[in-house]
Amino acid sequence: MQKLAFLIVTVLFLSTRMALAVPAEKTLEFSKSPMGVVTFDGALHREAGQKCKGCHNEATFPRMKQGTVEVTMDDIYAGKLCGVCHNGERAFDARSHCARCHIKQ
Ligand code: HEC
Ligand code: HEC
Ligand code: HEC
Repeated sequence: MQKLAFLIVTVLFLSTRMALAVPAEKTLEFSKSPMGVVTFDGALHREAGQKCKGCHNEATFPRMKQGTVEVTMDDIYAGKLCGVCHNGERAFDARSHCARCHIKQ
């Protein structure tokens, strides 16, 4: 019984750790836009020096879960969500580089 409990705790611990460790290497697809699918690449952003808290904070993407924030271009142009960085200062400007995010299939 004790061994089983230990096993469960270990598996839970490992799976939580994996859930936290994987997404930096993960890609998320935003496929609702008629402009084409946007692929968000976690590893690319990490290599570009972005820390978890730069995105996972109250104002931007509070939850580490896909689909909890609706992304609109109005918000991006207003300097929110992806637009916190994609404003021509911290990263390329969204207004002039649609196709760096939106890939037509
Ligand atoms: C450049 C921005 C950015 C950075 C940096 C970032 N994330 Fe994310 N992450 C996102 C976005 C955007 C989502 C999707 C949120 C949504 O759809 O509501 C997300 C989703 C996630 C998810 C859920 C994935 C899924 O399949 O549902 C996890 C877990 C996560 N991030 C963990 C991390 C961790 C850990 C770090 C730091 C190593 C990190 N993120 C860094 C932007 C970022
Ligand atoms: C915390 C800052 C930050 C946020 C927020 C952020 N990015 Fe980025 N992103 C970067 C940086 C830095 C780069 C590296 C390229 C550069 O410097 O312009 C990058 C690169 C990219 C690239 C690679 C494009 C190419 O041609 O190389 C894509 C695609 C991208 N981001 C999409 C997104 C999307 C979609 C979101 C929102 C879900 C987002 N990013 C949010 C900082 C950010
Ligand atoms: C930094 C990445 C990025 C850039 C650059 C970008 N977009 Fe988007 N766009 C997104 C994301 C993410 C979504 C959300 C898609 C979803 O929810 O499936 C989106 C959604 C959209 C939508 C549908 C929702 C809405 O707000 O209307 C349209 C239309 C759109 N983009 C057009 C454009 C055009 C036009 C440009 C260039 C002037 C552009 N986008 C540049 C990331 C980007």
